[in-house]
Amino acid sequence: MEVELRNITKRFGEVVANDDVNLTIRAGEVLGLLGENGAGKSTLMNVLSGLYTADEGEILINGKPVDFKGPGDSISAGIGMVHQHFMLIPVFTVAENVILGVEPTGKIDYLDLKKARLQVREINQKYGLEVDPDELIENLPVGIQQRVEIIKVLFRSADVIIFDEPTAVLTPQEVTEFFEIVKSLRDTGKAIVFITHKLHEILDISDRISVLRRGQIVGEGDPQTTTQTELAEMMVGRPVSFNVDKEPYAPADVLLDIEDLTVLRENDDVAVDGINLKVHSGEIVGVAGVQGNGQSSLIEALTGLTRVAGGTVKFNGQNITHASTRARHRMGIAHIPEDRQRMGMIADFSIAENMVLDTYYDDRFSKHRVINWPKAYKNSARVAADYDVRMTSVHDAAGNLSGGNQQKMVVARELSRETMFLIAAQPTRGLDVGSIEYIHSRIINARDEGDGVLFVSSELDEIMALSDRVVVMFEGRIVAEFDATTHPLDKNTIGLAMAGAVA
Ligand SMILES: Nc1ncnc2c1ncn2[C@@H]1O[C@H](COP(=O)(O)OP(=O)(O)OP(=O)(O)O)[C@@H](O)[C@H]1O
Ligand SMILES: [Mg+2]
Repeated sequence: MEVELRNITKRFGEVVANDDVNLTIRAGEVLGLLGENGAGKSTLMNVLSGLYTADEGEILINGKPVDFKGPGDSISAGIGMVHQHFMLIPVFTVAENVILGVEPTGKIDYLDLKKARLQVREINQKYGLEVDPDELIENLPVGIQQRVEIIKVLFRSADVIIFDEPTAVLTPQEVTEFFEIVKSLRDTGKAIVFITHKLHEILDISDRISVLRRGQIVGEGDPQTTTQTELAEMMVGRPVSFNVDKEPYAPADVLLDIEDLTVLRENDDVAVDGINLKVHSGEIVGVAGVQGNGQSSLIEALTGLTRVAGGTVKFNGQNITHASTRARHRMGIAHIPEDRQRMGMIADFSIAENMVLDTYYDDRFSKHRVINWPKAYKNSARVAADYDVRMTSVHDAAGNLSGGNQQKMVVARELSRETMFLIAAQPTRGLDVGSIEYIHSRIINARDEGDGVLFVSSELDEIMALSDRVVVMFEGRIVAEFDATTHPLDKNTIGLAMAGAVA
């Protein structure tokens, strides 16, 4: 099967998200699709999967033009898409999710779940997916949920499978397993489109690479010969530096003082198991670890989003163990949450409204409980420009921003107010290399000006680039600590500690 996108143009009002794009997708190949935030990758794939209709251009399958009136037509034509935000129903089983919308029925129109389970098992076996058809989605880790999305697509007999940033939420081990699945799909003749911001991944898995910038295809790369540096430059149109300069390490007073902190999960399992940690003014402490080892609970406890089961947290000398989130916020703690869509923004609100989501009530934007909107608009426009949030106007719904630009909006809001301390989880998730460089420089800037920073990242590269000190979390505890100011950090040693191998 061969799919050709010919002269595709897609506009949203004045925004030209795809500008005369030509792209060919072939059976038995992985096409890597690369591009800066807002370049038009998701839009282009939404056109191919029938969610959007192109304003100009056509789609050809095996040389014949097709007309997709909606996702149903695209699915019937053999195209399947795994979206970045999974579309599964948590309280349904794997099999129930897989058949949703295409329920196989028996002779007298009853739901044939038995048949469905059997088909799921067959797909499982063929591609080495190993998913239990009877397990509830809510009990499955993210990596397995993603496999359910893949089974869903295969169940609908897709020959073309589109993955929009599938690795952004996976652990390194899950990424390795995911790549094995992609290879086996390719080897059975499926055509794969793979979108990612991680250059090493795209070089690893792709047979061909196409690069989008501002809606247009600006280049192609051969994974055998292209380098990460070349790809980065092609994407953003200028050289990108992977290292950011820092002032010498000059920590001052302790700002955050965590003693014997214990946090429980909803089911009363121990998530954080008696952690002790101090973070000083003028210091960046990176928390490394494979996702799911208590880092999220640690952040939630420090920001007042979850209850502390034991121990104390002091900030700037004050006990804040049980302080409200707003109180912490007012003391000068900024927070970049792990999941922007769930905790960082309101998609239906405008960009301007989102930019004042946590400050609308203070003197800067309110008088006698009335919000000074002109002022809020002006401030939002300035901050958004500062952080290169690509948008048409601050009045646009934030949910219409591209994924990476939503992240930049949240980071911009948190870093642009007067703060003393930054707590960040996966601060650059979903960002392109150029934006990562910029956000890293702003975080380092905050540290150089005396802020304390505590950040969690499952990206070792990010831990290495930012941290003055690194602590490694494993099963709720700090199992290792590394001081970058006295010894250069070693990726392998940190990696081993993350896997629980502690000397
Ligand atoms: N539904 C929509 N309404 C209005 N504008 C939109 C809509 N969807 C996308 N856009 C705009 O189209 C442009 C391309 O967005 P798209 O989501 O395709 O980017 P992307 O390459 O996937 O970026 P990212 O890497 O950040 O996910 C952006 O300027 C975005 O704001
Ligand atoms: Mg996208």
